[in-house]
Amino acid sequence: MASKSPTIVDIHTHIYPPKYVELLKSRTTVPYIRQLPGQTVPHLIILPQETIGRPIGDEFSSIARKVEFMDKHNISISVLSLANPWLDFLPASEAEAAAKEINDDIDAMCKLYPGRLYCLGTLPVSAGAKACVREVKRLRELQQIRGIVMGTTAMGRGLDDEAMEQVWGAIQEEGWTVFLHPHYGLPGGVYGERAGEYGHVLPLALGFPMETTIAIARMFLSGVFDKFPKLQLLLAHSGGTLPFLAGRLESCILHDKQLKEAGKLHQGRRTVWEILKTNVLLDAVIYSSVGLRAAVEAGGVDRLLFGTDHPFFPPVGEKAEEEKWLSVTLNSKAVADLFGEDQEKSQAVLGRNAMRWLKLD
Ligand code: URA
Ligand code: ZN
Repeated sequence: MASKSPTIVDIHTHIYPPKYVELLKSRTTVPYIRQLPGQTVPHLIILPQETIGRPIGDEFSSIARKVEFMDKHNISISVLSLANPWLDFLPASEAEAAAKEINDDIDAMCKLYPGRLYCLGTLPVSAGAKACVREVKRLRELQQIRGIVMGTTAMGRGLDDEAMEQVWGAIQEEGWTVFLHPHYGLPGGVYGERAGEYGHVLPLALGFPMETTIAIARMFLSGVFDKFPKLQLLLAHSGGTLPFLAGRLESCILHDKQLKEAGKLHQGRRTVWEILKTNVLLDAVIYSSVGLRAAVEAGGVDRLLFGTDHPFFPPVGEKAEEEKWLSVTLNSKAVADLFGEDQEKSQAVLGRNAMRWLKLD
């Protein structure tokens, strides 16, 4: 008898709802969308050092196109998140109303496909902690919401900002999982004078993961997980480089005189390894079994969740319309390569973990 195909859940999949696209089109500084003379499609310019940008079509904003993509790749359920840079750039006075509108919009889009679409909410980070807390609580009213997506700068000063404590407290109380996603990368200078010749490769392949790694390390070092031990952070791109560098991070902590003198190396201290197994979930968007193995070893197979990063990384070949996306098949191949015939483990990563952690009915 043919075995039933596994439930595949995509927890790393983005959308820019039409209202957000309008907002980007109305702007003339980063982030924005522009249509240059001679270009057939508008271009999205969102990254700090980006000049030419990337073509943006309706696959970025159309919910029907999202479901088409899911069907093409046998994805049963998607958990949509607003794509970067979320609402980070909005003036404080506009952010809370915009968050409500965008969150309501994405929730309504998900309702068009019952059982297939869920979503993450976005916070009005530029409006400060009280506004964020209000939205954290209001998200409960939206039926398809299963967590919150957040950038590494949070309310502007990072995840170790003391002002974030109110927000972490509310998030913990409401039981939301936070999907931490990069956007800002590393300072442009590190890419060198020839950066312009290398397309988006360096900021996306290396800047993004380092940004995530530093952000979560700062959060850990500042003691957020000690104060809020039930928080669950889902880290994009398999934790950046955290699984690979956790040993070095721990060693640097254990050899740090300042931390020792501040009494931070006491018995019973929760190590980064423990945080990885109790407070961190990792997505499986790493495109190779080598990185995936490190993620499993660091966090455990029950904490790894499949994703695609759609609609970013479309095929660049001539037959792009017909092809399955390489960015998806590389990630499913990594799961197959790592787990081989072990259906229990591969099905956990492909869908079951997401169903459980994000309470997808
Ligand atoms: N590029 C982005 O700007 N965001 C993503 O999520 C992926 C690629
Ligand atoms: Zn992404």
